[in-house]
Amino acid sequence: MYHLLYPLRTFLIVSGKEEANVMTADWLTVISHRPFIVGVAISPKRYTHKLIKECNEFVIAVPTLEMLDAVWIAGTKSGVDKIRKMKITFIDSRTIETKSIKEAVANLECKVIDEKDYGDHTFFVGEVIDYTYNREAFESGMPKVGINFLAHIAMNKFVTFEKEIHMP
Ligand SMILES: Cc1cc2nc3c(=O)[nH]c(=O)nc-3n(C[C@H](O)[C@H](O)[C@H](O)COP(=O)(O)O)c2cc1C
Repeated sequence: MYHLLYPLRTFLIVSGKEEANVMTADWLTVISHRPFIVGVAISPKRYTHKLIKECNEFVIAVPTLEMLDAVWIAGTKSGVDKIRKMKITFIDSRTIETKSIKEAVANLECKVIDEKDYGDHTFFVGEVIDYTYNREAFESGMPKVGINFLAHIAMNKFVTFEKEIHMP
């Protein structure tokens, strides 16, 4: 019944220093503002899980609707063989060795500061030590609604955001 909490935003997790892998993840949250700390729940069945354990770092790449094909491949295939099919471009991150994704509108560079198994997932806690973002997608650091940020409904169903509501 975890879908009662959906729609959830969908992100890409890049891991691996020598050869980068990418997986799709919905179960991601901000934990602290200062320092900026995030957490992501990753099943031990994922190759990404092994790579994060080995390297103690990962990148959160923020996709838009234009990257949906890549998001779907990253979320349905395991291991680095999928990367070629995803048609993405890896670029150097600013501070950590794990690559960022050029086509993503933001890339958050995380160092693992804690991890704990809960049920069938491991919750990796990462401090965001650096980031880059596309200034056309974020104005003063805030997301622009017309940019087609992705959220997930269930299985192969996704949504984007259309309406921006301003409180008085
Ligand atoms: C939209 C979507 C969201 C997903 N969210 C998560 C998640 O939060 N945690 C997780 O462990 N797997 C999640 N998955 C599954 C992994 O992305 C999937 O098993 C992937 O193939 C793992 O790749 P890897 O083995 O190369 O790391 C999600 C899949 C999709 C399609």
